Amino acid sequence: MAFKSNRQYFLNPRLSLVALVWLCAIYVTESATPIHIRGEVGGNVTFHCPDEKKEDVQFFYFQTNDTFVNGYYDSKDLRTYGPIWENTRVDHNEKTVDMYRLNISHSRVYECIIQYKDGSLSTKSISLSVTANYSKPTVTKSCEDGSSCLVTCVSYGGYPGTEVMWNIPVSENTSGQLWKVVNNSEVPNPSTMMYNSFSTAYFNCSKGELTYLSCSVGDVTSDMFSVCKPKVVHGIYNPVIITAICAVVAFVISIVALLLWRKYKKRPTGALAVDVKHGQSVKEEEIALSIKEEGERHPEC
Ligand SMILES: *[C@@H]1O[C@H](CO)[C@@H](O)[C@H](O)[C@H]1NC(C)=O
Ligand SMILES: *[C@@H]1O[C@H](CO)[C@@H](O)[C@H](O)[C@H]1NC(C)=O
Ligand SMILES: *[C@@H]1O[C@H](CO)[C@@H](O)[C@H](O)[C@H]1NC(C)=O
Ligand SMILES: *[C@@H]1O[C@H](CO)[C@@H](O)[C@H](O)[C@H]1NC(C)=O
Repeated sequence: MAFKSNRQYFLNPRLSLVALVWLCAIYVTESATPIHIRGEVGGNVTFHCPDEKKEDVQFFYFQTNDTFVNGYYDSKDLRTYGPIWENTRVDHNEKTVDMYRLNISHSRVYECIIQYKDGSLSTKSISLSVTANYSKPTVTKSCEDGSSCLVTCVSYGGYPGTEVMWNIPVSENTSGQLWKVVNNSEVPNPSTMMYNSFSTAYFNCSKGELTYLSCSVGDVTSDMFSVCKPKVVHGIYNPVIITAICAVVAFVISIVALLLWRKYKKRPTGALAVDVKHGQSVKEEEIALSIKEEGERHPEC
């Protein structure tokens, strides 16, 4: 009997594959238009194999290229005959395969092969692409005394490799060669196969500050940033410094005024003060007070 001899092949998944290729060549009942499904690194997917709602399945095979992934023969788990992928589960009733803890190396074309006891065979190809989301890009700037800036944009851990794009407002874009991309690179991590994406751009500061700039990797975008800020903004005109200077000036004037006021106030109370001098000292006291008041008004600057 044909199936008896085939059965011997199934004792060894590798040999059984040879048998399957041979069977496929003869009995293919469904021309397999590949189906595409997507998953994310660390996530799960479910493969839906053809289900003709027949009870009498001889074997169910789920494989990729020459690698057996999971399946059963006569309802019996095939793991005793060889290694299965431990991150997969087969549902015998629904003819589905769940795959867990996805990583980039699971991006492949898989095949379901179902042999029924009546001799008919169903196959289906399903291609899985596993993607990974890039981190939000971060920006570092290094500027040369206000004449130019180099800005580097970095985003980590994505798949597939994606170039950094610079989002520069049209107004900055059209006004001459104020910026250009210096380099771009996507560096794969050999163990996770995910990419880190880098780009460095040069900005010419001759037209002053450039604002509302950002960079993107795929659909994730950095915070807005600006370059070529005039240096003076950070210098003496800084509001904090202005306030501090005002406070010190006001304080010094107040002290001086207070000392003057005390000094002239004492004189007329002295026993020998003459009327003329007294009148004069009142005037001086008024002057001293008005200086003091001015000093107190000063903090507003
Ligand atoms: C994947 O499946 C496992 C087991 O069912 C579950 O615990 C986990 O939350 C799932 N992960 C995602 C990202 O759906
Ligand atoms: C890109 O250019 C910057 C500035 O010239 C440099 O520091 C960096 O190393 C370059 N990166 C690559 C990957 O070439
Ligand atoms: C992906 O996961 C499998 C187990 O499911 C593991 O054997 C393999 O090394 C992993 N590959 C990567 C690139 O992480
Ligand atoms: C910066 O741009 C100005 C014109 O806007 C140009 O004259 C100058 O040469 C540029 N500088 C550099 C270093 O490219």
